[in-house]
Amino acid sequence: MATTSAVRTQQSNFTNTILHGDCIEIMQQMPEASVDFILTDPPYLVNFHDRQGRTLPNDRNADWLRPAMAEAFRVLKDNRLMLCFYGWPRAEKFLEAWRNAGFRPVGHLVFRKSYTTKATDFLKYQHEQAYLLAKGRPPIMGSPLPDVQRLLYTGNKLHPTQKAVMSLVPVIRAYSLPGDVVLDAFCGSASTCAAALLTGRKYIGMEMDDAYFQQARDRMNRIHRRIAARRFSPFGIPTCGR
Ligand SMILES: C[S@@+](CC[C@H](N)C(=O)[O-])C[C@H]1O[C@@H](n2cnc3c(N)ncnc32)[C@H](O)[C@@H]1O
Repeated sequence: MATTSAVRTQQSNFTNTILHGDCIEIMQQMPEASVDFILTDPPYLVNFHDRQGRTLPNDRNADWLRPAMAEAFRVLKDNRLMLCFYGWPRAEKFLEAWRNAGFRPVGHLVFRKSYTTKATDFLKYQHEQAYLLAKGRPPIMGSPLPDVQRLLYTGNKLHPTQKAVMSLVPVIRAYSLPGDVVLDAFCGSASTCAAALLTGRKYIGMEMDDAYFQQARDRMNRIHRRIAARRFSPFGIPTCGR
């Protein structure tokens, strides 16, 4: 056991990197209690496919869910938070995995869309949802965030379920501090990582799909280049482009 943790703490620093592979295996290489906030958007377990035929790995089976949440809990520092999107048809599986890992639900957020993603016989889908989960007893940071947020439309050019960076910024600002490390273990096109970088945080992104990983890495490289060229405002908000 001592040997394992000695190996883990000697691992190179993953910050400001998009890592390619299975997040369970990658997180196993990370020291415990090494990230300050987790904002993640895993597959919803709904066999998603869009009009272009794009799909998501691991969206049909939940085998990865418990081990991934256990690793997320391990790498998160004590008394910190994770915000995790989830699919309502599999709510019980997500809650079971979070509780089993040690997380305590402390809130639930609705992200209201100005657009409809799907209509069933009964409802038009106009929101997404996420649980706010605590490891230990996080301190109160500023005034509480409203539990209804706006989810802007991205056009899903880089990824079929691409979240808007500007919709993630308020969450990152509410639950982390400048300089903190923000982890997204299911990063897709790196929207969380972009929001973290643009608000002065460090990021760690993980993505197993080859094409989405390329999109994520290229996107972060573009943002780093724009920051270096001072094409972002001093408040960390982009002045142009994605
Ligand atoms: C809902 S999408 C995230 C989209 C992202 N929020 C964005 O804005 O682009 C979930 C992502 O998790 C990835 N994924 C699924 N299982 C994974 C695993 N075990 N390790 C790493 N990535 C995984 C999928 O390939 C997919 O891109």
